[in-house]
Amino acid sequence: MCGIIGYVGNNNASKIILDGLKMLQYRGYDSVGVAFHGGQNVNIYKCVGKVEDLENSLGNIPSFTCGFGHTRWATHGSVSYKNAHPHDFGNVVLVHNGIIENYKDLIEEFNLKDILKTTCDSEVAAALLNYYYDGNPFSAINKLIKKIEGTYSFVIMFKDIPDSLFAFRKVSPIVVCKKEREVLLASDLMPLSLMSDRYFVLPEESILFVNKNKTTLYDLNNNVIESELKTIDWKADQFDKKDFPFFMEKEIVEQPDCVYKTINKRIVDGLISFNGDNFDESILKEIDSVEIIACGTSYHAGLVGKAMFEKHALVKTNVSLASEFIYAPKVFSKKPLFIGISQSGETIDTIEAIERVKNLGYPTLGIINVKDSSLSRICDYTLYTDAGPEIAVASTKAYTCQLALLYLLAFSCGLQRKVLDENKVRSLIDELLKLPELMKQTIDKRNEYHLLTKNYLNHKDLFLIGRGLDYLTLLEGALKIKEITYIHAEAYASGELKHGPIALIENSMPVLALITQDDLILKESSNIKETRARGAKVLVIIKENLLPQLNQNIDTIVIPNCIDDFVVFVGVVILQILAYYIAIDKGYDVDKPRNLAKVVTVE
Ligand code: G6P
Repeated sequence: MCGIIGYVGNNNASKIILDGLKMLQYRGYDSVGVAFHGGQNVNIYKCVGKVEDLENSLGNIPSFTCGFGHTRWATHGSVSYKNAHPHDFGNVVLVHNGIIENYKDLIEEFNLKDILKTTCDSEVAAALLNYYYDGNPFSAINKLIKKIEGTYSFVIMFKDIPDSLFAFRKVSPIVVCKKEREVLLASDLMPLSLMSDRYFVLPEESILFVNKNKTTLYDLNNNVIESELKTIDWKADQFDKKDFPFFMEKEIVEQPDCVYKTINKRIVDGLISFNGDNFDESILKEIDSVEIIACGTSYHAGLVGKAMFEKHALVKTNVSLASEFIYAPKVFSKKPLFIGISQSGETIDTIEAIERVKNLGYPTLGIINVKDSSLSRICDYTLYTDAGPEIAVASTKAYTCQLALLYLLAFSCGLQRKVLDENKVRSLIDELLKLPELMKQTIDKRNEYHLLTKNYLNHKDLFLIGRGLDYLTLLEGALKIKEITYIHAEAYASGELKHGPIALIENSMPVLALITQDDLILKESSNIKETRARGAKVLVIIKENLLPQLNQNIDTIVIPNCIDDFVVFVGVVILQILAYYIAIDKGYDVDKPRNLAKVVTVE
């Protein structure tokens, strides 16, 4: 979590850093700070709150040409002014993203207890670096790297070395963009896109030194090393909210286009091809199981992926939460394919889980949105979703694009394993390509759904019920509602209602039911009656052709008809929209929900 940005160059560092921090805020936003090297001294400004709060408090500060900034998601140490970065210790000022796991041992070993001013692990690194610093920054950083354990990215100033920044990292990312006499480095590509479309990823076990005249990368033996320059695909205007009040709404609306792009570029002569991804789909022929690993929304996409792999490719599929996978007993089939799903490609649990199975020699495939992210560098193969930058903390378009790739993979696997023939795959692709239009029709009606959300505003709890794929869709819908409305929303498989959850149904309790599967309407209809009999106020989201069979006088949202396997794409869009409007009507900052961050780089 946390976002870091640094700048050295001829332009106004404070403007560049504050603008960049705004783009990084989705990584954390409980407190914020900046530091500028003024030649003789380092000026530090920080506050509890968001970048906008700091900007307002700064007013007109002098123009500096070297500085860095940090937007925090608290891990060690409460949210407070003193714990906000940058940390200032002796000759050292630094910002840190990650966790120093052995910070307590270091406090003991170096007798730091009485001299630390904060409760942050990051300050321990600053104190240690200051301890090692004798005028040679490289040897001090080298010694620090040998001492600290954990994951980290650091950007550092030494007070007696004006106009210069140093950076190094382990796992937590730093990307660097260089122009003539100007360097920008950050936790991710978003702010870099303001400056150039060329960048490099700071390698682990290296130290970056930048000033106006030079950008040099050293290995830990002080040899100069080269970095591979890459191109940013995303354009700066994709980071713009345009006329939407929140990024989340913009991202919901973008889904049909993103899903279409994700699918269409992989259709060659009416069949699926991953050649453009350098992934040879014949690998899918050899496998005897699929093991999906992910967190949060990506995990929910994996659950739907499992249903598709098992139905269309008859291949046993397991889905694990990355944070749990690490502790689970490792019993795999002979030839599993591991798939790591991640929007950011930086979720530490997913990275660690995939790294482990890769080290055991198993093939790994990433379904990732952010190009060249840490997970993509670990995976043997990567399929990129075409969602473009996703900025709202609650994931929407990344999820539907992940689904699109999982469907393509499942169908391709079915063909390779001769479960499906070419004609069947062609007809499934035709259906898949109809989805963007159906999603669009649904999104265009969003103001109508808004009217139905008024019932939920004053409730603390909400149940979502459904069966089969509907239940899986509702798991994602419930997560959206929790994340941005703070309503305690739980999805239950309707068949399980009588095994406990129905005990919680009270008079007027809101229940959302999803019915899109032809063979489940009768059972689901009974479940709805059971909850209504106990006073629940039910809203049913139902596929058009099933409406006559529901036969109840009840609020409904009607989903256009499409093949059952594909309705997830449309159903989830409705749930995203409902969550969005409830949050808006409650007056919340939809894009930056409390306590959350978009990129979770701590375990
Ligand atoms: C955080 C985000 C979620 C996301 C999850 C997994 O919790 O707020 O939106 O689903 O991390 O992130 P990933 O980048 O691995 O998909």
